[in-house]
Amino acid sequence: MGSSVLCSWLAVLSCLLCLGVEVQGDCSDSNIQIEGGEYILSRNLTRDSLLVYKCKEGYYPYPTLTRLCQPNGSWRPAPKKFIRQRCRRVECPDPNVLQNGDVSPPQESYFVDNETTYECYSGYTLRGSVKRTCLPNGKWSGLTPICSRDSGDVCADPGIPPGASRTGNLFGIDDKVHYRCTGNLFLVGSKERTCQENGQWTGQEPACYYKHTYDTVLEVSEAFGGAIKDSLTTMESLNDTQEGRMIRISKNGTLNIYIAVDISESINEDQFKQARNAVITLIKKIASFSVSPNYEIIFFSSEIYEVVKIPDFLDGNIELKDAIKRLEDFEVGDKNTGTDLNAAFVKFEGEMAYIRDRVKPEAFKEHRHVLIMFTDGAYNMGGSPRPTVERIKNMVYMNDMANVGSRDEYLDIYIFAIGADLFDDDLQPLTVGTGGSHYFRMKDIKELQATFDGIIDESEVVGLCGLHQDYEITPDKTNRRKRYPWLAFIINKGKKSKKCIGSLVSPDFVLTAAHCFTYGDLPKDIIIEIEDEKTGRRERSVKNFTLHPNYKIHAKVNQGVEEFYDYDLALIQLSNPIEISVSIRPICIPCTQETSDAMKLVGKSTCKQQEELLLKNQRERLNFLTRKDPLVAEKDVFAKLGENRNLCIEKALNAPGITTKDPKVAVTDNFLCTGGLTDHRDHIACTGDSGGAVFKNYELRTIQVGVVSWGTHELCGSTDGLIESNADSRDFHINLFKMTPFLKRILGDENQDYAPLKFLES
Ligand SMILES: *[C@@H]1O[C@H](CO)[C@@H](O)[C@H](O)[C@H]1NC(C)=O
Ligand SMILES: *[C@@H]1O[C@H](CO)[C@@H](O)[C@H](O)[C@H]1NC(C)=O
Ligand SMILES: *[C@@H]1O[C@H](CO)[C@@H](O)[C@H](O)[C@H]1NC(C)=O
Ligand SMILES: *[C@@H]1O[C@H](CO)[C@@H](O)[C@H](O)[C@H]1NC(C)=O
Ligand SMILES: *[C@@H]1O[C@H](CO)[C@@H](O)[C@H](O)[C@H]1NC(C)=O
Ligand SMILES: *[C@@H]1O[C@H](CO)[C@@H](O)[C@H](O)[C@H]1NC(C)=O
Repeated sequence: MGSSVLCSWLAVLSCLLCLGVEVQGDCSDSNIQIEGGEYILSRNLTRDSLLVYKCKEGYYPYPTLTRLCQPNGSWRPAPKKFIRQRCRRVECPDPNVLQNGDVSPPQESYFVDNETTYECYSGYTLRGSVKRTCLPNGKWSGLTPICSRDSGDVCADPGIPPGASRTGNLFGIDDKVHYRCTGNLFLVGSKERTCQENGQWTGQEPACYYKHTYDTVLEVSEAFGGAIKDSLTTMESLNDTQEGRMIRISKNGTLNIYIAVDISESINEDQFKQARNAVITLIKKIASFSVSPNYEIIFFSSEIYEVVKIPDFLDGNIELKDAIKRLEDFEVGDKNTGTDLNAAFVKFEGEMAYIRDRVKPEAFKEHRHVLIMFTDGAYNMGGSPRPTVERIKNMVYMNDMANVGSRDEYLDIYIFAIGADLFDDDLQPLTVGTGGSHYFRMKDIKELQATFDGIIDESEVVGLCGLHQDYEITPDKTNRRKRYPWLAFIINKGKKSKKCIGSLVSPDFVLTAAHCFTYGDLPKDIIIEIEDEKTGRRERSVKNFTLHPNYKIHAKVNQGVEEFYDYDLALIQLSNPIEISVSIRPICIPCTQETSDAMKLVGKSTCKQQEELLLKNQRERLNFLTRKDPLVAEKDVFAKLGENRNLCIEKALNAPGITTKDPKVAVTDNFLCTGGLTDHRDHIACTGDSGGAVFKNYELRTIQVGVVSWGTHELCGSTDGLIESNADSRDFHINLFKMTPFLKRILGDENQDYAPLKFLES
């Protein structure tokens, strides 16, 4: 017995030895538990596994946020015997730094949900928030309160953020203030600010962060959105004064965007995909502005994986959609251990030098560079990237010593610090750029995509048709509306009650199918449902509706078509124009200038150009919607075009009520045909889908190409939803490219009380 155990041990040992496997200890799971929380391990208890503690909202892990399993089987940091690992209530930095005023209640420490109020001594006025609440991310709500007196200074008192102390109490031109954070807080933002002639302080208000302080999705969307928008819009010409006269500095130059994503071992497959999708969202978002930057996109650990190369853009070998495709297709197999953040910067430095050598220094002057890095900052190889960043600055600033600062706007480095434990001291100094925050602190990669989706500033993009949010954090009603902001439900309570779907095509009009109406229906019988979560309003009344004048359902009874759906189109005018928002916005329709803009067609574009881009393949992927909890679901279909079309429409002969032998009698050239199961099993339309938009996403914009009209088979029964086609089942949708005269006559009418759409001349 004893000897057999010994034998097997020897066998195992010798086997390990003969395979050359290093005998290494796993880490132990004793003493790593957390009171009141839980932990996750990236690689179980094996070497390089990262242990991340989690606490519920409003709490943070203490004394440590993470532990790393070292090769010799010990944790770093090692669990301490006398300080138990637990979840502590999140604390906010001390607000009792207010000068010339009182904070109440006075407390030693302030925790989540604690409220404070601020009052100034007499003779002082308060700017900022009167009341602030400590939030679960470790920040105070609202704005820093400042008590000041009109002293005639050029700059206003810049205040003291909670947890900070300030030196410098003079606010005249060129006066400086310095900030420090107390205790174990660290400073994010400008340590030093200078009062400028225009009465503004340089830099941005600093804030004191704990290790457990994070920026919220909303904060980052706003701050980064504002900053990147600056980079995107200062591309336009600016005026500057030189030698006393106004000259136009050409900013027609090129924008180069470099993106690096850290995929070191602490990132799992899921997080990798989230990061990749977030990058896709970001570049699509940038594309919704009217700039077309060149991109260099890399993923890195100890090695660089170059997915999108800037020289391809310079050569014109690649378009944005190819870059997105490359990103979508990119997978990492076995990741290398180690993280070399410097290598990522060196790679970008190399690409910049390549551009400079290629376009020559004179033209390089016109190139702007925006670097966006996603990392937790835990680089363990390659050393600090700071010298590389200095070299990059020199290259872009062109060593213009005479004019320090004159080229600042040509370089921005943004850092997204993401992870459970961040190396802020290493990362913050790597940011470069003026105007707005360049350092963002986030807990989870999961939040990134929502952050980038949030960048749209609604007020600035009211005119943009088809703009939508691509990503759903959770598939709830609100997020669905943001994805399909043009969606309208139509309830006809007239002679025959009917439910249809429609699409908002302008603030005043909903497009749907004519067969959603019965002869004799009145505007008051029709209710449009477009829910506005802000106001809680859902039902909209109808001013009038107009069916396509050529829609005549019984026109071909004598030719063997009992119900003939050609021109199955109707426009409904709402009693009041709808308020455009992030979840309510018109879809783009063919042959309008708005759609050409959405598709970035430059100069005088034509209807035909649009059609060739949208319906170019023999099988063109399209979508339409069906009612499904929590709001709608998306059906996938392929329109059979060109040589495929005849085979598709032949199936119309199987439909009940059709006795003609020629499918073209029932299905004129005005229809798109979808359905069937060869190559791709399409979804099939259900009764309630009628009138809905058949659409195509073109980068960030949605363009409607058809309207759901009729089909050969009733496969759905009484329920709507995602029903799949059989071999014979086909659906026919009105092709909007064939309906332009009708759409233009009503939607393009300039002599009405509604805002007209601009239709193309040809
Ligand atoms: C961790 O252990 C579980 C169960 O033993 C296993 O299924 C899983 O693949 C392991 N994970 C890793 C990353 O090794
Ligand atoms: C394990 O290795 C780390 C560094 O690699 C060292 O600091 C630590 O003391 C070692 N622990 C043990 C128990 O050997
Ligand atoms: C502040 O928060 C702590 C922890 O939740 C709580 O015990 C305390 O009563 C709060 N103080 C006030 C004034 O609300
Ligand atoms: C630049 O100058 C032009 C002509 O002098 C003027 O029309 C324009 O508004 C100026 N733009 C800015 C941004 O100041
Ligand atoms: C950009 O501006 C420069 C200088 O004004 C000019 O020479 C160049 O042709 C412009 N380039 C483009 C693409 O407009
Ligand atoms: C409603 O539409 C019909 C047909 O399009 C038109 O003849 C009629 O004048 C419109 N009525 C109102 C009140 O606008």
